Amino acid sequence: MTVAVQRLVAALDLGSTKVTAIIGEVTGDSRSWGLRILGVGTERSTGVRRGVIRDFEESVRAITKAMTDAERIAGIEVGTVYCGAGGEQLAQRISHGVASITGSEIRTSDLARVNDVASSVSFGHDQELLHAIPLDYLVDGQAGYADPVGMSGERVEAQVYILTARSSTLAHQRKAIEKAGWHVGEVVVEPLAASLAVLSPEEREMGAVLVDLGGGSTSVAIFQGGKLRYSASLRFAGGHLTSDLVHGLQITQAEAERIKERWGAAYAPMIPEVEVVEVATTGQGVKSVPRQLIAHIMHMRLQEVLELAYDEVARAGWSMAALPCGVVVTGGGAAAPGIVELTRDVFAAPVRIGVPADQLRGLVDRVAAPEYAVPVGLALWGARQVALGGGFGAGGKASPAVGRVLEPVRRWLQDFF
Ligand SMILES: Nc1ncnc2c1ncn2[C@@H]1O[C@H](COP(=O)(O)OP(=O)(O)OP(=O)(O)O)[C@@H](O)[C@H]1O
Ligand SMILES: [Mg+2]
Repeated sequence: MTVAVQRLVAALDLGSTKVTAIIGEVTGDSRSWGLRILGVGTERSTGVRRGVIRDFEESVRAITKAMTDAERIAGIEVGTVYCGAGGEQLAQRISHGVASITGSEIRTSDLARVNDVASSVSFGHDQELLHAIPLDYLVDGQAGYADPVGMSGERVEAQVYILTARSSTLAHQRKAIEKAGWHVGEVVVEPLAASLAVLSPEEREMGAVLVDLGGGSTSVAIFQGGKLRYSASLRFAGGHLTSDLVHGLQITQAEAERIKERWGAAYAPMIPEVEVVEVATTGQGVKSVPRQLIAHIMHMRLQEVLELAYDEVARAGWSMAALPCGVVVTGGGAAAPGIVELTRDVFAAPVRIGVPADQLRGLVDRVAAPEYAVPVGLALWGARQVALGGGFGAGGKASPAVGRVLEPVRRWLQDFF
């Protein structure tokens, strides 16, 4: 297959339970772009925990396996990847910038300057800037301008949402990917990437909450006015459900994982009382367990996780009334039957499961599950950059890093959507 190297993108999601690699070709043009998925590789891994590499060699192994599988399926070797950042290494804050307007009216360059001022704050020790998203502009002290270009005034202020990640964690991640043989072109925070894969432009505009139920962490992100406005990562996730099943049913970790994915449910009332499942216990051989008990254990824990997610939204100062599109659930946990019903109970809002589908061609079926929201989102992020002329292609295997560090001005332009 021949695909222009500049039109190729590759994405790598380092999750707590698995590493996923996606290789795709950018389709369309800047007005209507998309992604043809050419190759997907997934490898189970215990090397990463909540976005932090805990076991270097294990991570290198899983990255190598996932990337090589994706390359083999695509029939193409790539050099550079878009990589996600999530979990406890992320930090956020709202930063304020002021600039005087040089001409008779506000120009894009004035906004670039004020965003630059707001993004040039010190992030504290060991933090690296990933995104600077202008949330609101004030002109001569008057707030509420999404795009004040063309207005007249003397002074423009910007409120910029700054997302940073721990430099040492990012360095470690880069090192593992380099050791495996690839380069990191750009690091994108997970919910921002996932939003491209599963939220409609309308949901991003009117307001929605994205909840990713992963294996090691649950991420909560608020979108409104077309922008990411808040994000948080909770330590409770799929791993806790597994532990609860291990203790509650006296079974091994592996059996708990199997039971959860095969027979589990997030909403106990959905499961008929009569259903019984055979499980292999740690001491007493095989025993029969009511499926409702499995569902009950999962229901309790998931309800707790979702309540924490809801509290996070409230703590950020948002009510669900201001986010009329409700909640979109992604991550492996979103595959549990009844998750929509449970989430609806907790948030008292409309709920749907986020499955990557829009703008995709090629091996779409392979990624049509909520657990692929982040890796597909990363690939779409890359596709969008390339389509708009600002990104980097995935390059050939032997080519040096084509990724480059973006200056802040370009950065805010890119984060703006
Ligand atoms: N059908 C299912 N029902 C319940 N849980 C499920 C189901 N399928 C997968 N899971 C759980 O989803 C979790 C994995 O989700 P995902 O792949 O999104 O996590 P990850 O990206 O590896 O981790 P993280 O994002 O936390 O770093 C595991 O705990 C797994 O048991
Ligand atoms: Mg994940």
